[in-house]
Amino acid sequence: MKTPFTLSLAAGLVAGVLAAPTLAADNLAGFHNDMGGCQNCHSDANHPTDDNLTFENEQCQSCHGDLAEVAESEQNVEHSPHLSHLPGEPACTSCHSGHEKSVVYCDSCHSFEYDMPFGGKWERQEPSIDALVKANSDREKALKAAPRATTDIVVIGSGGAGLSAAVAAHDKGAKVIVLEKEPLVGGNTKLAAGGMNAAMTQQQKAKGIEDSLALMTEDTMKGGRNINDPALVEVLVGHSAASVDWLTGLGADLNDVGRMGGASVNRTHRPTGGAGVGAHVVQVLYDNANQRDIDIRFNSRAVEIIKDEAGQVKGVLVNGAHTGYYWIKAEAVVVATGGFGRNNDRVSELDPKLKGFAATNHPGATGDGLDVAKNAGAAMQDLEYIQAHPTLSVAGGVMVTEAVRGNGAILVNRDGKRFVNEITTRDKASAAILEQEGKTAFLIFDDSVRHSLKKIERYIELGVVPTNASLKALGEAQGIDGAELEKTVARYNEFVASGQDADFARPNLPRSLNQGSFYAIEVTPAVHHTMGGVKIDNQSEVLGDDGKVIKGMFAAGEVSGGVHGANRLGGNAISDIVTFGRLAGENAAKFVKQ
Ligand code: FAD
Ligand code: FUM
Repeated sequence: MKTPFTLSLAAGLVAGVLAAPTLAADNLAGFHNDMGGCQNCHSDANHPTDDNLTFENEQCQSCHGDLAEVAESEQNVEHSPHLSHLPGEPACTSCHSGHEKSVVYCDSCHSFEYDMPFGGKWERQEPSIDALVKANSDREKALKAAPRATTDIVVIGSGGAGLSAAVAAHDKGAKVIVLEKEPLVGGNTKLAAGGMNAAMTQQQKAKGIEDSLALMTEDTMKGGRNINDPALVEVLVGHSAASVDWLTGLGADLNDVGRMGGASVNRTHRPTGGAGVGAHVVQVLYDNANQRDIDIRFNSRAVEIIKDEAGQVKGVLVNGAHTGYYWIKAEAVVVATGGFGRNNDRVSELDPKLKGFAATNHPGATGDGLDVAKNAGAAMQDLEYIQAHPTLSVAGGVMVTEAVRGNGAILVNRDGKRFVNEITTRDKASAAILEQEGKTAFLIFDDSVRHSLKKIERYIELGVVPTNASLKALGEAQGIDGAELEKTVARYNEFVASGQDADFARPNLPRSLNQGSFYAIEVTPAVHHTMGGVKIDNQSEVLGDDGKVIKGMFAAGEVSGGVHGANRLGGNAISDIVTFGRLAGENAAKFVKQ
């Protein structure tokens, strides 16, 4: 969270002059100052010592308790803000700013009415990368100064690709610093829900699922409209089972195996019982990074890859939210900054149809990495391919995982009728929903689907899942033709019994919808995944416009292009980021040793 205060303080620090901090009656700093001065929060005069605000957060906790202790005192509060589903123990200052209005980070996805002390409403202010690297005296001074840190590899981004790269590089003997511009770990990865695709895994074998590398390759290429880079797909598919093993070796549970859109068999791996995959994977990777003492710097935006005269990487220029510009000396960099789904200006410039669309993404998914890599000479590919996820909850603004459909939910329109194979690829499902009245549809399921997938409890907790024991009454309360809905579900149940969907040829019919209560979630498509990005080869090395490898520069995850072609299959991104993240980390470590 960048604030005018932090930016002006940062600029002041670089210039050697401290900007005057705001100590007002309506901010936390003013309140604590009245209780005894700046040293209530800060160790040194009145400015933070690092961008993680380590000391300041310890001060908060010494008086108020840690996240778990504060949550304990909110047992009876609806949507306790401290009972966060986010991985990695978010720091107090992620939401509670000192010198500006505090804003609830959760509101970057949700919209809660919290009575927060000195609170304001969520809004994002972030200068572009281009603005930060334009002729600027603070930048020049920082570049002329000695590096503030020296390491072997800088990893930019603490999502799944970045953390996989960091752990893998460390385990190959390299020293790593991870930069993260947000105050929290995990990027879009922490939001991932439905699971991670992999073929020929032990988990599939244990469940008697027959799969093959050829089948996963075929599904991935078909989903991507055959414009995927086959060499990258070969890496994705060929390493997918090893990536599941790598994660489970680090402590992950990926024992549940379900189905996502466009897959011919069940190959989507997730925690037992169907909990969201992303928060779990990020927690496992973050714990492993911490066990290895990897230096992870939050509120630290990478703005430039610095190269020497020979064009080889020599470091990264950082803009710390509290400490301003500085550079880190390093021989290799892994760009793992994720996609740009949350930047509607960039999205709609590339695909005008998506102008004004909501997004499923976290607020940091703005596409910084594309600018940083491009300014360092990287080539781009397939940027125009941007995917909408079919099912964002209209009421809650949260994405409802495809796994709900994979586990048996159907989609109906206001006439109570099905209109699509629910587990087709998401480009087709989104297009079909946009053709319905109001450009929305309803996910309909029963208690058997609910109990098959823990993630559904999260949507119920958020209050976005109307329910009724009567299907007809449920439909009518939501503006759906209830009598028609009953007929549709009865016909669908006949298809389940016969094993054949005569209307839409849905390939998986896991269960009838006839148990306990029924549920309806109104959904609409939202920008979800950006398929294009930095051009890489099958070693995760970044290629320049001349097609040659840029020495010392690697990229992995959603920032890169080519793996998913024109349309990514559900579950293939987590596989992508872990596989290419590991590859980038290992190859960067190898490069540094050479
Ligand atoms: P991210 O996880 O987004 O991490 C990138 C990080 O880089 C971010 O933390 C960002 O803040 C940081 N960053 C950006 N710029 C800078 C900078 N200049 N300096 C420092 N840091 C920077 N895929 C699946 O396969 N299965 C799923 O079930 C699934 N569910 C999803 C659900 C949701 C709601 C969303 C949004 C996506 C889902 N996806 C899923 C897609 C998948 O989660 C992402 O494609 C993937 O996690 C991207 O990982 P990443 O590491 O490349 O990027
Ligand atoms: O619907 C989901 O769980 C999203 C999956 C994905 O983006 O792969």
